[in-house]
Amino acid sequence: MVHRSVSTITSLSIILLTFSALATAVRPSPFDFPARAELHSEPALHSQGSGPQYSSGPEWPEFREAPAFRNGKQCAFVNRTENELDHICDRNSVHIAMTLDVKYLRGSMAAVFSILKHTACPENVIFHFFAADRDEQLRSLIFSTFPFLRFKVYHFDEALVNLRISPSVRPALEHPLNYARSYLADILEPCIQRVIYLDSDLIVVDDIVKLWGTRLGPYAIGAPEYCHTNMTKYFTNAFWQNRTLSRTFDGKKPCYFNTGVMVMDMTKWRTENYRAVIEQWMGVQNRTRIYDLGSLPPFLLVFGGSVEPIDHRWNQHGLGGDNLEGKCRPLHPGPVSLLHWSGKGKPWIRIDQRKTCPVDSLWAPYDLLQPSALSYQ
Ligand SMILES: *[C@@H]1O[C@H](CO)[C@@H](O)[C@H](O)[C@H]1NC(C)=O
Ligand SMILES: *[C@@H]1O[C@H](CO)[C@@H](O)[C@H](O)[C@H]1NC(C)=O
Ligand SMILES: *[C@@H]1O[C@H](CO)[C@@H](O)[C@H](O)[C@H]1NC(C)=O
Ligand SMILES: *[C@@H]1O[C@H](CO)[C@@H](O)[C@H](O)[C@H]1NC(C)=O
Repeated sequence: MVHRSVSTITSLSIILLTFSALATAVRPSPFDFPARAELHSEPALHSQGSGPQYSSGPEWPEFREAPAFRNGKQCAFVNRTENELDHICDRNSVHIAMTLDVKYLRGSMAAVFSILKHTACPENVIFHFFAADRDEQLRSLIFSTFPFLRFKVYHFDEALVNLRISPSVRPALEHPLNYARSYLADILEPCIQRVIYLDSDLIVVDDIVKLWGTRLGPYAIGAPEYCHTNMTKYFTNAFWQNRTLSRTFDGKKPCYFNTGVMVMDMTKWRTENYRAVIEQWMGVQNRTRIYDLGSLPPFLLVFGGSVEPIDHRWNQHGLGGDNLEGKCRPLHPGPVSLLHWSGKGKPWIRIDQRKTCPVDSLWAPYDLLQPSALSYQ
């Protein structure tokens, strides 16, 4: 067990209980819980203006406890000592990195649940969560939902990213946590040689160990590629008209790939210092607008044409469709190992709004939201 922070759990329960007592008078909706920082009047850890502000009170859903998942007999042995580093550095451990954010929490819980449910060796999987805010609360929620999970929560300092992007260039709704995937090699233990990065709006319905075993060949990352996509649209005219910049793709056959599912070779990443290369592109973007999207284009610039193609079954993307226009996307043909609700619509929001798409019924069985929280009213 990586985390057995019982005292945190207890103190959170006390906070929740205390607040429940006040709740009827104060809460406008059953989900509105104040941030712990507000309850304790702790000094703000983050500078003003860095990322979204939560002062109006986020939604803190309650989750039911997931069952314990145990290793099958075929699983590689992972040494379980008290020393956290022994677990993390064990070469039979499978490392998964995800961000943790209040807005996507219900998605993250479902994603973790789906991974544990479908792998033969759940006890060998270690989750590395990156939170930008209220790390302790999120840690406690993960622990109470998955008491047997091996996980670690890291604080992702949004200032790392905010320093590099002028606010005028950053799309208004983009969260700096989106950039955490560029910093994994710096934040994770140096002994970690490989990690699977996953978005929070997906579920895995196959054994994640199969994805983990992907051979990356000479490349630092592997992901499903989409080569019929026209790359022109991902960069501005300013980019394509400047030969110094557009030369980047000379002699390459760049294909679009989604950065929400990636197998990443941390050793190669560190050796080649890809974080610095990505930051250089962010610096170029800061001076001349070369793309309109946020965190994806730097990955296309650095890795486009140098990605190990992974079977499309590992990213059935776009299931979010475009909720505003009421579009539902069907599954792509072919086998499915991972379903990804990329796009505007998220299954938990559509379920709450009773405007579900057919594919959302595939997500619903992994929803750990406490039903009592729904029937609170
Ligand atoms: C497990 O790790 C401990 C501490 O590092 C070591 O002493 C022990 O020999 C290991 N056990 C096995 C079976 O590898
Ligand atoms: C980005 O641009 C802003 C405004 O022009 C500038 O203040 C900031 O220093 C730049 N940051 C980097 C990392 O280039
Ligand atoms: C890609 O799109 C651009 C502009 O929209 C167009 O000029 C170009 O011909 C397209 N390329 C391919 C291969 O379709
Ligand atoms: C092209 O981009 C490079 C690198 O950002 C820059 O130094 C140069 O001034 C640009 N050239 C033109 C003509 O804008």
